[in-house]
Amino acid sequence: MQVVVFSAKPYDRQFLDAANTAGGGKHQLTYLEARLSPETATLAQGADAVCAFVNDVCDAATLETFAELGIQILALRSAGFNHVDLVAARRLRITVARVPSYSPESVAEHTVALMLALNRRIYRAYNRVREGNFALDGLLGFDMRGRSVGIIGTGRIGLAVARIMLGFGCKVLAHDPFPAKEGMAIGLEYLGIDELLARSDIVTLHCPLTPGTRHLIDDAAIARMRRGAMLINTSRGAIVDTRAAIAGLKSGAIGLLGLDVYEEEADLFFEDLSGQVLQDDVFARLLTFPNVLITAHQAFFTTEALTAIAETTIGNITAFAEGGRAVHEVSTEKLA
Ligand code: NAI
Repeated sequence: MQVVVFSAKPYDRQFLDAANTAGGGKHQLTYLEARLSPETATLAQGADAVCAFVNDVCDAATLETFAELGIQILALRSAGFNHVDLVAARRLRITVARVPSYSPESVAEHTVALMLALNRRIYRAYNRVREGNFALDGLLGFDMRGRSVGIIGTGRIGLAVARIMLGFGCKVLAHDPFPAKEGMAIGLEYLGIDELLARSDIVTLHCPLTPGTRHLIDDAAIARMRRGAMLINTSRGAIVDTRAAIAGLKSGAIGLLGLDVYEEEADLFFEDLSGQVLQDDVFARLLTFPNVLITAHQAFFTTEALTAIAETTIGNITAFAEGGRAVHEVSTEKLA
């Protein structure tokens, strides 16, 4: 198939080319740096398939252009598909495929990296030592052993975080409308969300972004948290109401905040904007706190994950080309 890859970075090219070659070189891949949007969708002219990432805009207008161009499949290089208008895809008969699982450990281990870096103020210590400041004031942390970690969403990533936390000797609390058998088998204590928030020293988010989880962590949820608790979000930015988080940081309700995702990240993340004036005042405010650590959606960014993403994406396109169905189609059956 002719495949146009949007938001393509050098690493996407490297891993997708390798996967395509390993699969017999069945597809012609064209790489575009442009982010997908209704304005850029026409760049897919001449292609049969489009490959998109998390901050590409796959709304009805974009998909309508694809339908006019004869695009048959939208192959996402992500697990999340909250950025795709599935109702429009169904109406326009465009298959949407995704990568449901690629190294949950990549995201889980980054989550734990954020926890430890925040707890022991590694980011502050790094800068201090380089400047010849060897004082310890302001770097006081706590033992992870014996602390309560609340995991919201115990799917693949949440469970991988749970296993690591159990290894640290933490008490692991969990909230999920569908408790996982493995979660119960390894000793997680499933609770309602209010009780989890009230009892956790660290709250970490691993549920998908849906209308039901948008701003799940709002003023009311933050008020229920243990005062000074750590909050980590490596799932999707809009699960946390950023303005509520800022208020929580200012009042001390949130003691430490680690983010790999941000509500309005689409205009910022994955680009080098170091020479430009930051226009997002809310994000700028977040950057002023000494107890906030932000990474720019890099939790998935390991060799193992990129290899798996590329192989599954090429596999989805190949299966669709050969049999009319992708391996991991996003189901649109229950949609209107
Ligand atoms: P998964 O589908 O295996 O697990 C999600 C879990 O969340 C399920 O057990 C589900 O029952 C639960 N859930 C749904 N609604 C909930 C609610 N209201 N409260 C609590 N739990 C709820 O998904 P997986 O693979 O574990 O990924 C989780 C999320 O991580 C993805 O949806 C994606 O947004 C994010 N992600 C972030 C990455 C990054 O680089 N930062 C990379 C990959 C995924």
